[in-house]
Amino acid sequence: MTDRILYLVTCGAPLAARIEDGVRAARDRGWTPYVIPTDAALQWLEEQDLAGVPVLTGNRAPGDPKRSPRADAVAVVPTTFNTLNAWANGNADTFPLTTLCAALGSRTPTVAVPFAKADLAGHPAWLASLAVLRYAGVTIVDPQDGSTSSLTPVRSGTGDRVAQAFRWDWIFGELESFGSPPES
Ligand SMILES: Cc1cc2nc3c(=O)[nH]c(=O)nc-3n(C[C@H](O)[C@H](O)[C@H](O)COP(=O)(O)O)c2cc1C
Repeated sequence: MTDRILYLVTCGAPLAARIEDGVRAARDRGWTPYVIPTDAALQWLEEQDLAGVPVLTGNRAPGDPKRSPRADAVAVVPTTFNTLNAWANGNADTFPLTTLCAALGSRTPTVAVPFAKADLAGHPAWLASLAVLRYAGVTIVDPQDGSTSSLTPVRSGTGDRVAQAFRWDWIFGELESFGSPPES
């Protein structure tokens, strides 16, 4: 599998510190990644070596050419409480959210790694949003063990540890299980 386009959306939570590893893993597995950070994620990206991968921030200006080809797949690593709820609700007031809403609307294969502690995950909107995303075909991956059938809130004070133990092969295994798109 080569030259498949991956949008790597990242949000403002500790797992954003692993994006450089995600970029490397994507390339190793034949994907061409584009990183799409939320504004809150940018502080986690500052120290990382993204190896020249395009980082798409903000909206392009009217009349400017598109900055990326159409995605074959999308990974949202991590997905914050804020972005997960906004995405499920169809809010598209930032470039990352517009990208995610369009991926959902076009049924582009998408994997999301929600990252929230119990206090946020206990909010009723969280469960409703997860249900909407799963219904729409998004694969939800637990950042702590790679499970796609259960999701446990991240224990308070363990965010950095969970991020360090996170394995990108959980994500690529899921993305590759979607199979190849039909030839056009
Ligand atoms: C150090 C730090 C850690 C954070 N960890 C989380 C987290 O684990 N989950 C979460 O949903 N928000 C977390 N936040 C809060 C989000 O960054 C905040 O809600 C932000 O508005 C999310 O924006 P975004 O969804 O556009 O990335 C954290 C913020 C900071 C500064």
